[in-house]
Amino acid sequence: MGAYAAAYERSIADPTRFWGLAARDVRWLVPPDRVLDDGAPPFYRWFTGGELNTCDNALDRHVDEGRGDQRALIYDSPVTGTARGYTYRELRDLVARFAGALRAQGVDRGDRVVIYLPMIPEAVIAMLACARLGAVHSVVFGGFAARELAVRIDDARPKAVVSASCGIEGGRVVPYKPLLDEALGLAKHKVERCVIRQREQLHADLVRPRDVEWDEAVEAARPVECVPVAATDPLYILYTSGTTGRPKGVVRDNGGHAVALRWSMENVFGVGPGDVFWAASDVGWVVGHSYIVYAPLLTGCTTVLYEGKPVGTPDAGAFWRVAAQHRVKVLFAAPTAIRAIKKEDPDGALLAGHDLSALDTLFLAGERLDPDTYHWASRVLDRPVIDHWWQTETGWPIVANLRGLEPMPIKPGSPSVPVPGYDVRVLGPDGAPVPPGTDGDIAIRLPLPPGTLPTLWQDDERFVESYLTRHPGHYLTGDGGHVDEDGYVWVMGRTDDVINVAGHRLSTGTMEEVIAAHPAVAECAVIGVEDPLKGQVPRGFVVLKSGVLAEPGELGEELVRMVRDQVGPVAALKRVEVVAALPKTRSGKILRGVMRGIADGKEVTVPSTIEDTAVLDELRPVLRPPAP
Ligand code: COA
Ligand code: AMP
Repeated sequence: MGAYAAAYERSIADPTRFWGLAARDVRWLVPPDRVLDDGAPPFYRWFTGGELNTCDNALDRHVDEGRGDQRALIYDSPVTGTARGYTYRELRDLVARFAGALRAQGVDRGDRVVIYLPMIPEAVIAMLACARLGAVHSVVFGGFAARELAVRIDDARPKAVVSASCGIEGGRVVPYKPLLDEALGLAKHKVERCVIRQREQLHADLVRPRDVEWDEAVEAARPVECVPVAATDPLYILYTSGTTGRPKGVVRDNGGHAVALRWSMENVFGVGPGDVFWAASDVGWVVGHSYIVYAPLLTGCTTVLYEGKPVGTPDAGAFWRVAAQHRVKVLFAAPTAIRAIKKEDPDGALLAGHDLSALDTLFLAGERLDPDTYHWASRVLDRPVIDHWWQTETGWPIVANLRGLEPMPIKPGSPSVPVPGYDVRVLGPDGAPVPPGTDGDIAIRLPLPPGTLPTLWQDDERFVESYLTRHPGHYLTGDGGHVDEDGYVWVMGRTDDVINVAGHRLSTGTMEEVIAAHPAVAECAVIGVEDPLKGQVPRGFVVLKSGVLAEPGELGEELVRMVRDQVGPVAALKRVEVVAALPKTRSGKILRGVMRGIADGKEVTVPSTIEDTAVLDELRPVLRPPAP
């Protein structure tokens, strides 16, 4: 039996022993009494009785063990012309000081802190400072609008918000502070303190005494030590799109998270202490949490924080420049980023002159890796290109080619095999497992491994209802697909209304809520349709209230603007069309799946429960205009 098969079998047969051994790589202040606490299914807890501090494991521990002078973080920002490194010692000191600043603002163990920052070192410092205090951070992606930020503020009820005067999107300075002020005005929860990083590109107006400048706060602060927390205490909340307009607050604990991420670095990604790891994502997404900040630092790697784009900062050679300059061993990106590079530099000419001899592997995730992109990246890079599948909820890969444990043959289009700890099953509508090659719901038999979500923030009920009810005893991933005869998993797409636009997870439900609020709109549907660059893009369809006279083009533009203003530019909704009616079942459910299939040019089976086939026939040419 190979190393992978043996590890996988051990992890499923005896998870307590498997993860108990993995837990030895974490510095515990009090060792756990139990590895897996399965006393209250369907809720499971890992490492109960244990105490640790995640920041201690990410920083202090490495300084104590002799890595103080190694670079922990490299901030590479082509948009500001900056590249600067921070050693583990420097980063620990900055974090300890900022933790002191937060404490002086009244933040304590268990308090929430919302972080709304661009890709600057302060984002990493603020996250780790919260971890140091035992406070719970909730990072909100900068591309969301004020309303989305307000929703998250109301759910997390933070003591403080940490933000900046601006972000830089390519060549454009995006003011953050007005968005924050608007969000704070919209939110019902009143935030007592905001710590604002003033960037030289734009100075923000402060609202005193609520707002304090980062530098002022730090100057007045004393460094603080790591606060011991329970393994089961929350480290962070990360909001992610669900099928409704209300985002889900995915909770991450401290103990399971540290153990799982540490294990994943060596076994999945094949990197260890001292290696340079670069996840070209954003700290606002789960990839940024896990693989820009926590996993590389827990492992004693050097992590790269890149404030730039794959193209345009300054060109499609940016990734290769960064990888070469910092001797990156593993690069992790989204397929959409590679497609953007491929579009601008189809022959990979911009690789020339960059010494990529340190680069072992390119890992891709966040959306399906289409075979074309896989083949292109493999050809131009001439090294393994590894697809892996996971989601915000799990926090680390569910299915991967475990390069550190035992590299497996690559099948383009499949992220390969279940990662140890994940008992992946494909279930049919009746809940029974389907044979190999047959599509169904991809589910994971409980318990989920450490590091995955124990629940949703203060909403156990929604956790059970969203994930654990459809197939009792299993976690529903929301993705559909199949397992082949060799045990490879093929993830074919979401089975719900979540869409994935340029590697950004979005809810069509949120966009529909915004559009439906327009006084002219009787009903609407937003669907995700295939796009050659972004993977998917949203398209909206509206039916007007009877008697309303609106110029369709103007209304469409107004609705696009509303979504941009209320959800954020990242929603990338560019087309909203006025139609006579939407196809529905007799019980009134809009047939979004059928609409999506037609728009993508797929064979669709129209359900027998359709109310009026004529409505669908009329819509077909709008969904997919006939080829000229
Ligand atoms: N703050 C403010 N605005 C932001 C933002 C942020 N952090 N991130 C994105 N936006 C804005 C963009 O400026 C753009 O605005 P525009 O409509 O005015 O041009 C809009 O949101 C859409 O952004 P995006 O989807 O990123 O499209 P793009 O055309 O700017 O770039 C790619 C396309 C493919 C280069 C880019 O999407 C990309 O690099 N994607 C990878 C995503 C990723 O790493 N995901 C993490 C999962 S691993
Ligand atoms: P997020 O929570 O933002 O990480 O998005 C998770 C969703 O992105 C998954 O449920 C999938 O639909 C999709 N996804 C992520 N990685 C992959 C992959 N490698 N292959 C197919 N889909 C993926």
